[in-house]
Amino acid sequence: MRNQPALIAEKIAAKFQRTAKLAADAGILPYKSAAGEWITSPFDGNSWWTGGFWPGLMWQLYSFTHDDFFRQEALRTEKLLTDELRTFRFLNHDVGFMYLLSCGAHHKLTGDAQAAQDTLHAANLLMGRYNPVGYIRAWNEKEKMGYAIIDCMMNLSILFRASRMTEDPRFAKVAQLHADMTIREFLRPNGSSAHIVAFDPETGKRIGEVAGQGYCLGSSWSRGQAWGLYGFTLAYLNTREERYLNAAKGLADYFAAHIRPDGLTDSDFCQPEGEERIDNLAGAIAACGFIELSRITGRADYLTAAESLLDGMLDHCCDLGDGICGILTHCTASYHDDGAGRHTNIIYGDYFLMEALNKLTGNDPMLWI
Ligand code: GLY
Repeated sequence: MRNQPALIAEKIAAKFQRTAKLAADAGILPYKSAAGEWITSPFDGNSWWTGGFWPGLMWQLYSFTHDDFFRQEALRTEKLLTDELRTFRFLNHDVGFMYLLSCGAHHKLTGDAQAAQDTLHAANLLMGRYNPVGYIRAWNEKEKMGYAIIDCMMNLSILFRASRMTEDPRFAKVAQLHADMTIREFLRPNGSSAHIVAFDPETGKRIGEVAGQGYCLGSSWSRGQAWGLYGFTLAYLNTREERYLNAAKGLADYFAAHIRPDGLTDSDFCQPEGEERIDNLAGAIAACGFIELSRITGRADYLTAAESLLDGMLDHCCDLGDGICGILTHCTASYHDDGAGRHTNIIYGDYFLMEALNKLTGNDPMLWI
């Protein structure tokens, strides 16, 4: 790798020692940064699905530095998220993302009993979204009752965790039912994946793919591909079931074949040539998946793919100075809708970048497992 992971991680930690204080002073849960300030989520307040990435990032930085400021900041923002368990209004299948990286991390790293209860509370909410016709319901809108999405592969991790915590296999069984459905219904013969699949919520009959955050119906949204790549890798680590590893490898091979020569990631692998939409969120998530896959399989090409992505982002799209509060730029939430951010710093880009660097430097607390 051209960049030195430990040196970059030190610079990132030093920057967050300065800028995370701004969020703490303002009492907010950051979603993105621009022009020297942190900005909160554009939708649903602290129930927006990305809320766990800030405390998760603080735990990643704590693992790297052992600076107690990061632990305190993780705990401050975990409280903002557990308040949302009470209101419940906007919570959806992304309780996995939100609570595994906040309460789940807190419990895993310190043994805190209340954090364990809150993690199980979130896991039970996710269990309640399982429709026994065969899928975990993604979103809350009535007209989307039959929707399942590839992103949910990452949320399954909190179910596997809950089964280990309680010694009750129900949680892991539901996770496997959903993962098996995802293999059948989302993975395409060429190695790409659908973002959204709609089912009849009464019968479970597949209605068809629905266009989502990618370029168009039937295209290949790179972040969805990354969620699947890393999600199936984690499902394999949780179960040691070969079919999940095979799914992860298929998704990874397709992703690796589409990494741009500069190491950046197009927002959609089928986007029109010349249309510049980069999504480094996808690259950072995929880098974590590639590193884990290289460890599981011993395949050097997966590590090379991770390093190309990381070097691309570090060479072209990282602000280690004082331009913005966060680090990774050129993150794009959705191909056609700029409301949640286009070509900007978004917090889960920084989260996965730091997780990847922690993996390479031997400091990863493995928050997903
Ligand atoms: N729903 C997760 C994402 O936008 O990637």
